[in-house]
Amino acid sequence: MNHLIDITDLNVEEIDDLIKTAKDIMKNKEKYSEKCKSKILATLFFEPSTRTRLSFESAMLGLGGQVLGFSSAASSSTAKGESVSDTIRTVSCYSDIIAMRHPKEGAPMVVSEKSRVPIINAGDGGHNHPTQTLTDLLTIASEKGKLDNLTIGLCGDLKFGRTVHSLITAMSRYKNIKFILISPNELKVPDYIKTEVLDKNNIEWCETQDIEEYIDKLDVLYMTRVQRERFFNEADYIRLKDYYILNKQKLENAKKDLSILHPLPRVNEISVEVDSDPRACYFKQVENGKYIRMALILKLLEIE
Ligand code: CP
Repeated sequence: MNHLIDITDLNVEEIDDLIKTAKDIMKNKEKYSEKCKSKILATLFFEPSTRTRLSFESAMLGLGGQVLGFSSAASSSTAKGESVSDTIRTVSCYSDIIAMRHPKEGAPMVVSEKSRVPIINAGDGGHNHPTQTLTDLLTIASEKGKLDNLTIGLCGDLKFGRTVHSLITAMSRYKNIKFILISPNELKVPDYIKTEVLDKNNIEWCETQDIEEYIDKLDVLYMTRVQRERFFNEADYIRLKDYYILNKQKLENAKKDLSILHPLPRVNEISVEVDSDPRACYFKQVENGKYIRMALILKLLEIE
């Protein structure tokens, strides 16, 4: 069974193929419009989402398939005490492929063993978000024309930001990648990523709390929000939530061809005045999310 639980479930060649397919879909939408006729995607979201759930649904509809699912645990039998494994066993009788988001780290991996159909991890707690990473890779490849020889700044909540963890893991497989990790002390990248991913792959990286310290060196700046829902203490969230606010003034020394990404949702960390800067790519990133998910659905369903 083909599942996508972690970004490393795909090798670099498979990711390159997905990017190629996504670009082809963008140019030739009609060619793909009936590829999933009679197929059903279930979106099971035990946590809130706008982009991931709706881009998956838009992707399946764009492929001629159909969608069903729920957008909160409260509207499913989870509210009556059903286990997530039983939910997946049930929904895999009604659908051909399942995209699920769950607050518990590792939940998609556990339930994939119970499923009769491919499971896609659409975000598990503060752990991973592999389809956001595919979106990010398509965006970087489109904007920079390459996925190697890049200096990437990751800024914000690098502790709980699951998109950051998956992106570091994915980019560490490309040549000559350097990371600048920009966060408050309390929200640094977890040690297991530093040792198991960055150091193991001999990736050059450094940490700073100052967003302007290395801004002139960056090819990509990946902003993230502080993940309120992962904090145990509201006072800590309030203290840290506005630690970084990217604005025009902070971008004064940045490269002319910097690409600014953000997985969204945005709270305060990018001022709206940056949206009109030609280097702002986050809404292009949103659109890319649909096409890369179309490519992924085709791959997991083994449709040519
Ligand atoms: N980037 C992302 O996962 O957005 P949503 O939470 O809106 O799905």
